[in-house]
Amino acid sequence: MVLKGLQNRDLKLILFGGKGGVGKTSCAVATAINLSKNFKTLLISTDPAHSISDSLEQNIGFRQQQINNITHLTAIEIAADEAIATYMEQHEAEFRKFFDTTTNLDQEDITQLMNLSIPGIDEIMSFKSILDFIEEGNYDKYVVDAAPTGHTLRLLASPKLLDEWIKVAASIRWKYRYMITSFSGSYQPDDVDTLLLDLKRSVKRIERLLSDNTRCEFIPVCVPEQMAINETQRLLISLKKLTIDVKQIIVNHVMESEEGDFCRRKKAYQINYLKMIDETFGNMTKVYIPMFPEEVKGITALNQLGAYLFDD
Ligand SMILES: Nc1ncnc2c1ncn2[C@@H]1O[C@H](COP(=O)(O)OP(=O)(O)O)[C@@H](O)[C@H]1O
Ligand SMILES: [Mg+2]
Repeated sequence: MVLKGLQNRDLKLILFGGKGGVGKTSCAVATAINLSKNFKTLLISTDPAHSISDSLEQNIGFRQQQINNITHLTAIEIAADEAIATYMEQHEAEFRKFFDTTTNLDQEDITQLMNLSIPGIDEIMSFKSILDFIEEGNYDKYVVDAAPTGHTLRLLASPKLLDEWIKVAASIRWKYRYMITSFSGSYQPDDVDTLLLDLKRSVKRIERLLSDNTRCEFIPVCVPEQMAINETQRLLISLKKLTIDVKQIIVNHVMESEEGDFCRRKKAYQINYLKMIDETFGNMTKVYIPMFPEEVKGITALNQLGAYLFDD
């Protein structure tokens, strides 16, 4: 079996997720290389421990970088902490005004409060960068190498979290608005209202994109081991709650060779887990990748891995 449907024109965003070390980066990069044969492709890393540079053996960094010898492939690493710092800096005045008009806090308290993170906003900022790329429309496909499961789930849950915060902020703001209207008879929406509205719009756009199965697909990567299977199960439950559909799953590190004691034992050990994967993820297409003797690094090795993911 190979990955299906990634060539569909409407499918824009493809995210790879799973436990640390199972092969997310290798699969994401190999997929991006393959797709770039027919589509202008942007490979995006949201893992704070970026490793697409190591995988591609080319320094990527925080600007879009054309990949050597691959015509239609560009890559970028997103720095969530930088994105959020820039955002807070750009909008410091509005946030300050929000607290100033709706609370009795003095400036010092407000500064302290602003140094605390708004729930979900860091993750939203990295997602917003992805959304902005997609809306700029310079590429046909956007392939995301995500961080290990826990971080990815926080990323995916961030719209809900931030939405709750915005709701509370808006209701506090509403009281302020009511008060102004009572005193002066009218109320002109200001930059704070605009900020809250913009945040709300971003959250909604991200939610719409993530739960749109024609535009977005999440592909979990697993290995035939108990801990990885458990984590994949938990990931799938969380994705389902977020109405993110999963159709196919990659099973990496499958031992094929029976030569020598080590390989024989490893293969025998994996049999039960492969069966478990089959039963647990029965309704999904499974794509198997064998264990290679060397690490998957550089274009040639990534293409070898890609040959198990794609037909051509
Ligand atoms: N099928 C495979 N056979 C051998 N090594 C692999 C295979 N898939 C990935 N690797 C190697 O395993 C390590 C972890 O893979 P990586 O893609 O970085 O995982 P993740 O992004 O999930 O942490 C890397 O050194 C990579 O080269
Ligand atoms: Mg990785």
